[in-house]
Amino acid sequence: MADQLESAAYYHIAYEPHSIMNPLSDERFLLLARQCGLDRNSRVLDIGSGNGWSSYLLCREFGCHSTQIDISEQWTARARLLFSREGLSTHTDIHCMDAASFFCEDNAYDLVLCLGTALLYEGFGPALDVFARTIRRNGCIIIGELSAEPPLPKRYKDYLASFDWDMTGSRTLLRAIDDRGLELLWALRSTPDEWDRYMSMQWKAVSDRARAHPDDAQLQEFLDWARDEQETYLRYQRHHVDWNVFLLRRLGD
Ligand SMILES: C[S@@+](CC[C@H](N)C(=O)[O-])C[C@H]1O[C@@H](n2cnc3c(N)ncnc32)[C@H](O)[C@@H]1O
Repeated sequence: MADQLESAAYYHIAYEPHSIMNPLSDERFLLLARQCGLDRNSRVLDIGSGNGWSSYLLCREFGCHSTQIDISEQWTARARLLFSREGLSTHTDIHCMDAASFFCEDNAYDLVLCLGTALLYEGFGPALDVFARTIRRNGCIIIGELSAEPPLPKRYKDYLASFDWDMTGSRTLLRAIDDRGLELLWALRSTPDEWDRYMSMQWKAVSDRARAHPDDAQLQEFLDWARDEQETYLRYQRHHVDWNVFLLRRLGD
């Protein structure tokens, strides 16, 4: 629990300067979203919606409505502020809660957005089980998930195992999509520039904060954490890990 709280505290600082809190540019996200046929009557469900930026892009572009679920008070407050500042508050309802407690109605949404948050459902496959029934006929799912093609260097495998992190290859993800009667319509993979930018923004945010508060012991620990992340990223992750964003639809809809 302490670890979880510490991790949340680290990412509350590290993600501070991000718009989308994942290695994906606004333009490439919108490229996918434009394939979904959204309009002002569309309903979106955004699981682990963070600072609300991806939902905001959708509501601004399509005039749709987005239900945002995120456990963080900091990020849901940020999302409320963003929607209010942009005059879009009536286009969203924002719930500060554990996604596991949010009841996803059947056939209720035109798009489910799950960017980097499938773990909240115990993984990619179980998340798809929920999303496949909560989308309406012709509805879509946009889901972001990591993959790594085997074989991985042993030291990186040991590192992942120490976090119980089971990084699958893209074939396993594809099988999970097929097994749920879903059709893959579009696949994006984060570019090296998107990855570098995403990681570097985190390191700089942590460094800036620690520099502004030199007497804060936790921030000095976070600096060490960021250095460890740099090492893992530059040695392994940058070479072996992909971040995929898939656009899916139910087969036969
Ligand atoms: C990597 S961020 C992604 C945010 C957003 N999807 C995006 O791409 O910009 C992960 C988000 O999941 C949220 N989160 C973590 N555990 C959660 C839970 N149990 N229920 C709901 N949200 C959760 C975090 O607060 C964080 O905002």
